[in-house]
Amino acid sequence: MSDQSGPATTPTLAIGIDIGGTGIKGALVDVATGELMSERLKVPTPKGGEPADIVAEVATMVEAFGDSTGRVPIGVCFPAVVINGHTMSAANVSKRWIGLPAETLFEKTLGRDITFVNDADAAGVAELHFGAARGKRGLVIMTTLGTGIGSAFLYDGVLIPNTELGHLEVDGRDAESRASFAAKERSRLSWRNWAKRLQRYYDTVEMLFSPSLIVVGGGVSKEAAEFLPFLHLRAPIVPAELRNNAGILGAAWLAARPRN
Ligand code: BGC
Repeated sequence: MSDQSGPATTPTLAIGIDIGGTGIKGALVDVATGELMSERLKVPTPKGGEPADIVAEVATMVEAFGDSTGRVPIGVCFPAVVINGHTMSAANVSKRWIGLPAETLFEKTLGRDITFVNDADAAGVAELHFGAARGKRGLVIMTTLGTGIGSAFLYDGVLIPNTELGHLEVDGRDAESRASFAAKERSRLSWRNWAKRLQRYYDTVEMLFSPSLIVVGGGVSKEAAEFLPFLHLRAPIVPAELRNNAGILGAAWLAARPRN
């Protein structure tokens, strides 16, 4: 994860797969331009989020991209802390992921090497190269509002992985249980009432980390006009530009980047 120099001299095509608590999405990506080069495939995350079921869905999806050469790099991102290819947490998937050598598990099933990272980190890398964080200095905090809340720290264009700000304690509660998009849906909150929870959440983030920019991603970012105007923070807070494709794009970009 440390080498984030551009993929200019490397293959331009890569497959990106974004595993979430609700859905698994994937596409073939041109990592030079950030464009999707295939249809975006999406299947529901298997009930219970068990490792074997998720790996099987990903294998079916990879097959659908018809890479007969077996050489197109594959990046997979996942909603957990990822350390040396091991998943070390499991907030919205089966607890069996905790401590699992997930990268190896996918590689064995797919029969090839993959790049395996946290989903919000992948989304942050995509916004850094192709979206709202491009060219921004200082600390950019990308947050994804979906089934959970994911975060990525980008400091002067370098990713600091596994920050997990969805699990900050806010008002005595795990932040994502109150402020994620899933929490809005669960409690049928209006945009304004959800924004009150988001204000508490981003106030805490801002108090602790003083970011120079906050980027708000996840599928709901396409409706940013409904809730961002309610938020008042010191730092500018802007919608992600890549919407729900950021995870796919970032995973693909990381898979295609040059290695030392
Ligand atoms: C997980 C994170 C993930 C986020 C968004 C959280 O519950 O702990 O690892 O990035 O959800 O999917």
